Amino acid sequence: MDVKTRIERALDAAVAQCETADAPPGLAGALRYAVFPGGQRIRPRLTLAVAMACGDDRPAVTDAAAAAIEILHCASLVHDDLPTFDDAATRRGKPSLHRAFSEPLAVLTGDAMIVLAFETLARVGVEAGDRLVPLLLTLGRSTGMPYGICAGQAWEGEQKIDLSAYQQAKTGSLFAGATAAGAVAAGYDPVPWRLLGERLGEAYQCADDICDVAADPEKIGKPVGQDEVHHRPSAARELGIDGAKKRLEKLVKSAIDAVPDCPGRDQLRKAILAQASGFLPQHVKERAA
Ligand code: IPE
Ligand code: IPE
Ligand code: MG
Ligand code: MG
Repeated sequence: MDVKTRIERALDAAVAQCETADAPPGLAGALRYAVFPGGQRIRPRLTLAVAMACGDDRPAVTDAAAAAIEILHCASLVHDDLPTFDDAATRRGKPSLHRAFSEPLAVLTGDAMIVLAFETLARVGVEAGDRLVPLLLTLGRSTGMPYGICAGQAWEGEQKIDLSAYQQAKTGSLFAGATAAGAVAAGYDPVPWRLLGERLGEAYQCADDICDVAADPEKIGKPVGQDEVHHRPSAARELGIDGAKKRLEKLVKSAIDAVPDCPGRDQLRKAILAQASGFLPQHVKERAA
């Protein structure tokens, strides 16, 4: 089965758990709306790529980990778009969830998805054996306090914000969770795998910051100019587009250097390089050149 099909099937199986006959239909519908159709699915791709480079000896555990990571990401987008955060009208080329449904349902959808992610892992508990606890801790660290997405979003309300710490928490943490979870799912020690995710995540956020000043909103399916409106620290605003591009390239290079030893190391490095070359959409590369 190809990677895309594997990810979509794992996500569908997880979301289907919420769609019982006695579930509130509005919330069930909103939850599916938040997950499908997806964006680039970059985080679960990373989880699968790392697990496969490490042998992927328990594919059901890998699939659950990849689905859990993407569900957490989708939840973070639902909450991020709310009026109290970025107040975004569109996401993935369609109305943001609170615009399509309602603000209360968007809060509940994000909450329910965070719980669903942990349940998705718990359901493969027997098969995961002693890998379950490190997987749960990995996901918790990526999403909560003090290092996860909650911390990242909270930095936006602080007086003094360090760009790198902010980007690490809001984006790097879940990328690190994606690489670490892929390693744990295949029975490897997650610790050496975190650095790869951290660097790749920071690179990805640099690219997102460049898109926020240089992309066509129609093409990226979400608003631009948000960072300026909300006074967010942004690599493109602090370093200029050229500076942000240089930082992005440097981070990708150091991510590739950080790939730990494993049976599929060479192939994984090539796959990550190919993926990272698409971090900036073509039209943004042309505008920025
Ligand atoms: C958007 O993430 C939020 C950031 C951390 C930049 P993605 O760009 O991965 O969003 P989708 O999942 O592809 O829509
Ligand atoms: C989002 O960061 C990070 C999250 C934790 C959701 P941004 O606010 O920069 O991402 P976009 O531009 O809305 O996708
Ligand atoms: Mg935001
Ligand atoms: Mg946003």
